[in-house]
Amino acid sequence: MCGIVGYVGSKNACPVLLEGLKRLEYRGYDSAGVCVVGDGQLQIRKSQGRVGVVERQVLDDQEMRPATVGIAHTRWATHGEPNEPNAHPHADDTGRIAIVHNGIIENYATLRQYLLGKGHTFRSETDTEVLAMLIGEFYNDGAGSIEQAVRAALGEVTGTYGIAVACAGEPEKLVVARKGSPIIIGVGAEEYIVASDASAILEHTVNVVYLSDNEMAVVTRDGLRTLTLDNVPVPKEVSRIEWTLDEIARGGYGHFMEKEIFEQPESVRMCLGGRLDKRDRRIQLGGLESVVRTLARTKKLIVTACGTAWHAGLVGEFLFEELAHIPTEVEYASEFRYRNPIIEDATGVIAISQSGETADTLAALREAKDKGALALGIVNVVGSTIARETDAGVYLHAGPEIGVASTKAFTCQIVVETMMALMLGRRRLMSQQAMDQYIDELERIPEKMSRVLEQSETIRQVTGEYIDRENWLFLGRGYNYPVALEGALKLKEISYIHAEGLPAAEMKHGPIALIHEGMPVVFVAPRCATYDKVVSNIEEVRARKGRIIAIATEGDEDIRRYCDHVFYIPEAPAALQPLLTVIPLQLLAFHAAVLRGCNVDKPRNLAKSVTVE
Ligand code: G6P
Repeated sequence: MCGIVGYVGSKNACPVLLEGLKRLEYRGYDSAGVCVVGDGQLQIRKSQGRVGVVERQVLDDQEMRPATVGIAHTRWATHGEPNEPNAHPHADDTGRIAIVHNGIIENYATLRQYLLGKGHTFRSETDTEVLAMLIGEFYNDGAGSIEQAVRAALGEVTGTYGIAVACAGEPEKLVVARKGSPIIIGVGAEEYIVASDASAILEHTVNVVYLSDNEMAVVTRDGLRTLTLDNVPVPKEVSRIEWTLDEIARGGYGHFMEKEIFEQPESVRMCLGGRLDKRDRRIQLGGLESVVRTLARTKKLIVTACGTAWHAGLVGEFLFEELAHIPTEVEYASEFRYRNPIIEDATGVIAISQSGETADTLAALREAKDKGALALGIVNVVGSTIARETDAGVYLHAGPEIGVASTKAFTCQIVVETMMALMLGRRRLMSQQAMDQYIDELERIPEKMSRVLEQSETIRQVTGEYIDRENWLFLGRGYNYPVALEGALKLKEISYIHAEGLPAAEMKHGPIALIHEGMPVVFVAPRCATYDKVVSNIEEVRARKGRIIAIATEGDEDIRRYCDHVFYIPEAPAALQPLLTVIPLQLLAFHAAVLRGCNVDKPRNLAKSVTVE
């Protein structure tokens, strides 16, 4: 995820900024840059790749003037490729104003058009450069000060941002602002360190001021002024950071996996960001624009992936068939690549991969491409091999996933599939009314996810009751059948407990023989078309004295009669339920692993990115 550092003080700003960026490296990034204000001029140095590359540029550059004010950034690409022009800081076209930005400016295309009309020229494909140019436009149009220009520009913006702005005309100052993307200001002795994450501040001071959403600050060596974006002063208390660097990297959680499970409301927001066009009530996926008309006429989709991404693909099969009426098959990449598959005309192949580097998925994609399929990717890591080798695709924007067991990538993969299915569905058969409803429901998902996460402690206690059981079953139907598979996989991966996931009705064709007294069986049973059938399966397990844990819809008190434990999800349309029902299963696996003393983030024998066959 992108990282911001800013400095105002009496030290040489460049080394402070570069050190700060290195502290943010753990968040993942693909380019970096700094801008310092020396002798009343902005000096920007940036590059694709590591912070070290920028550091060498700065050290080798005789023209760099000493400066005590500056901003810096690590970028995780969203709008545009990870290359030098797209790296931050971005300047306006007078070169007098520079900005670093985290978040997404949703109306950047409209603003860009407006600024092009005013004669501005752009060097990058980013939404951030549009904001830099807009601030410059207000500044040069007599806004009075950089503070007022920032305020005026943010008034025109929809979307999310954490920003830090430097201005050659006001060289002793930084203006920072926040809406939806964190900004923290470290308060030292006559120096201030601005950052998106406390880890960049901690080596200088433990005293910090947190900006809230819709607030900004004007920072000089002599002091800090905090106010709302509407220019109302907001006095702020200085807080103390109590965490160590290591704890900060884990966001205060004990494990990366736990952090990533709890990050899901935010990662889904990021994934949806700028893609649900609320004004025109449609879905905009920039990465598919070049192929969308071909795709709307596709006769068949083949989804190929491994592991958790394959489970996301299985959910996709339901989504593409129900919402877009496109026949869809889901293939294990490892099987597909050796099967000499038949690819007919008008077939699209979608490779799903968090890392974008999984060897089997890449090989399957190449096989499909060679046979003439339109090659698409749903990938998290920007610029990864799969992302580069596809004809078009959609990034997850989930942020780096560090825990080996995939969690937030899974839910974002499903969100992307849902958006794709809706976008194609609307072009094929779906009414605007149905589209409107899905857009509204998708927007509500992050808040509903937060409600499911609140049950973590109850889930831990229930998991504790069964922690000595070595065999579990996970059952679900329809959209929730892949969720059952994912629940079983999660438990296996990190707690080394044997678990099987199955479509619930298949149980009677064999696995029912396994059920014995006390065996834990998890039913994913929210309200949906097959609810009554799943309840019959629950009765079958109960009759054999299995212990039943159900995931049900809030308000379904009746199900308690058949089950030993119930975790609830808020009501949602069947197509969106997996985004909620998977969360209790992720938490169950996580708590089981912790209770059994397993290495949650690095389970034995597993790798995060499997680049070999
Ligand atoms: C490995 C990981 C799994 C992951 C799978 C696919 O096996 O341990 O958690 O689901 O690879 O990875 P990808 O990066 O392609 O999504």
